[in-house]
Amino acid sequence: MIDDLKQLNESALNKLKELNSIDEILNLKIEYLGKKGHLTSVLRNMSKVSKEMRPEIGKVANEVKKSVEASIDAAVETIKDADKNKSLSEKLIDVTLPGRRGQLGRLHPITAVIEEIKDTFQRFGFEIEEGPEIETDYYNFEALNIPKDHPARDMQDTFYISKDQVLRTHTSPVQIRTFEKQDPPVKIIAPGRVYRCDSDVTHSPMFHQVEGFLVDTDVTFGDLKGILVAFIHQMFGDKIGVRFRPSYFPFTEPSAEVDMQCVICMGKGCRVCSKTGWLEILGCGMINPALFEYVKYDTEKYTGFAFGMGVERIAMLKYQINDIRLLFENNMRFLRQF
Ligand code: DAH
Repeated sequence: MIDDLKQLNESALNKLKELNSIDEILNLKIEYLGKKGHLTSVLRNMSKVSKEMRPEIGKVANEVKKSVEASIDAAVETIKDADKNKSLSEKLIDVTLPGRRGQLGRLHPITAVIEEIKDTFQRFGFEIEEGPEIETDYYNFEALNIPKDHPARDMQDTFYISKDQVLRTHTSPVQIRTFEKQDPPVKIIAPGRVYRCDSDVTHSPMFHQVEGFLVDTDVTFGDLKGILVAFIHQMFGDKIGVRFRPSYFPFTEPSAEVDMQCVICMGKGCRVCSKTGWLEILGCGMINPALFEYVKYDTEKYTGFAFGMGVERIAMLKYQINDIRLLFENNMRFLRQF
């Protein structure tokens, strides 16, 4: 039997030398060492062997098993190494090739301006609020003291969705929505899309506004002025002159329009400012107490100011863009400039 075992060892090793795939080698392993393999069949004759001889035979059987196993494992490793070297040499990486440069994205000028406005006012302690773009007549007009026969409600300006639903024409309704859910002090910036039935070089049917409002005790027009001058200086530089002109809005009383010195000609007068040296940049005023009546704020106790500005106009002035439509065409060659 010992001879049988030695022969088995030898024949396994000889066969192994001829094999050069992992599958074949694993089959050989089963053939020799598997449950129904050659080693098992040799050991089946153990019953015919004398008791004294058994330990000796057992020892040899174990050695044979280990030797065959070790040779098989070594052969598998050799093949794996060879495969790996082969694939490494085939897929040679040329480290001298230039890399592929990733394309950097940019913020759209409108987004960049909104972010800058938000940042500036957040530094003044304002919080950000948003409102729906589909708005009711009540929030868009009624509660802002814009009565039924006001020209701003004209069908030509407002996109009506139904008798009392509109695409909001401004961000001012966020004032009412905020007052309804929050008691003073409120200090809010509300950016967003607004819609008007209007389209030419300076008007787009969809555009962006930023609304700002502050309600507290003892708020004065002086506070409004201070905040807005600081804001304009932050956005356009502190050399720019700023002036307040009396104006009218139903939701503010008194109301003003704010002009800044023309950023193109620095006040000398040019085509952009129609030779006046000034550019209108936003509307503002002290919040009309009529609004507070709608939201049950104590008009004896609280006063507030509000302002609203068009983002496209600010972006056009800041980046000297002369046609608003350029902002919505998504022409990459145009957008990459910013
Ligand atoms: N809502 C106005 C508009 O769309 C802009 C505006 C003017 C907002 C004066 C205000 C304000 O809050 O006080 O034309």
